Amino acid sequence: MEEELLRLQQEACRDLAALHDLNDLEPFRVQYLGRKSEFTGLMRQLGQAAEADRPRLGKLANEIKIDLEKLFAAKKTELEEAARLGLTGAPALDLSLPGRTAPFGKLHPVTQVMEEICAIFEGMGFGVAEGPDVETDFYNFEALNIPKHHPARDMHDTFYVNESLLLRTHTSPMQARIMEKQRPPLRMIAPGKVYRCDSDITHTPMFHQVEGFLVDRKVSFGDLRGILGVFIAKMFDDKTAMRARPSFFPFTEPSAEIDIACVICRGQGCRVCKQTGWLEFLGAGMIDPEVFKQVGYDPEEYSGFAFGLGVERIAMLKYGINDIRLYYENDLRFLAQF
Ligand code: PHE
Repeated sequence: MEEELLRLQQEACRDLAALHDLNDLEPFRVQYLGRKSEFTGLMRQLGQAAEADRPRLGKLANEIKIDLEKLFAAKKTELEEAARLGLTGAPALDLSLPGRTAPFGKLHPVTQVMEEICAIFEGMGFGVAEGPDVETDFYNFEALNIPKHHPARDMHDTFYVNESLLLRTHTSPMQARIMEKQRPPLRMIAPGKVYRCDSDITHTPMFHQVEGFLVDRKVSFGDLRGILGVFIAKMFDDKTAMRARPSFFPFTEPSAEIDIACVICRGQGCRVCKQTGWLEFLGAGMIDPEVFKQVGYDPEEYSGFAFGLGVERIAMLKYGINDIRLYYENDLRFLAQF
């Protein structure tokens, strides 16, 4: 009898250890712990054992039964937990798979470069101001010494809204708008969108400029060169040379076109700089006395410089982009590179 009990205990433990599926639990219980199990049969036979052995055998049988019930309960918890985590059967849950991350957006390359330009000038004490895209003929032209029928208007390919309203063709109207409200000393930049009826690989009908100007007593062309030199060193590097070529703008006198040494060939001559070693960088000059008169400044007392730079152009030089239209096709393969 004792041997039978121990053998049954061993078999049950072995079978229980081999269980890997929740569905096999019930057959196991029926076989070893159920009312019709071999074990229950043995318990019933206890009565026929010798009277002296009965208490000992009874105790043993009871211990085995309690033990087995505990092991069975533990196994059941284990399998249920495994099933909950999906560790058994298919489909399995791969806990090592990385989660789905939300894609991050970024600032447009033109915005990035614009912010960089503003930060450099702010670092030199310039304030930032923004003005309207829909501008009056007065601020866009008249106040800047470009009267009606002036040939300089031809350069601008203007989008007119009506007789007196237009989409600003440059950020220079901000010179007049700010000077008219404030007194020198002034140092300001005005970033924003400008519009010209023009479209090819170096022109888009809308592009961005940053206007800059400084007015004070005894401001010279040397100050302009100094400020632009610092700007170019920060935007590119301090080995990038610059030069000024004579030019014409009705609102500056003298006027200059500022070039920088080609950032691709370092001035050696290449396809980008058309073998000249130089790249056109921005328009600038000393603010014309006529503009000062318009805003009520005394040109004998004050002098100042102004410059206007094209943001797309600078970003093209900085990143080696060869077609301006790429900025506005919104192809993420292009935009995500910056
Ligand atoms: N407004 C001029 C342009 O758009 C640039 C410029 C600005 C030139 C300020 C001189 C001074 O071309």
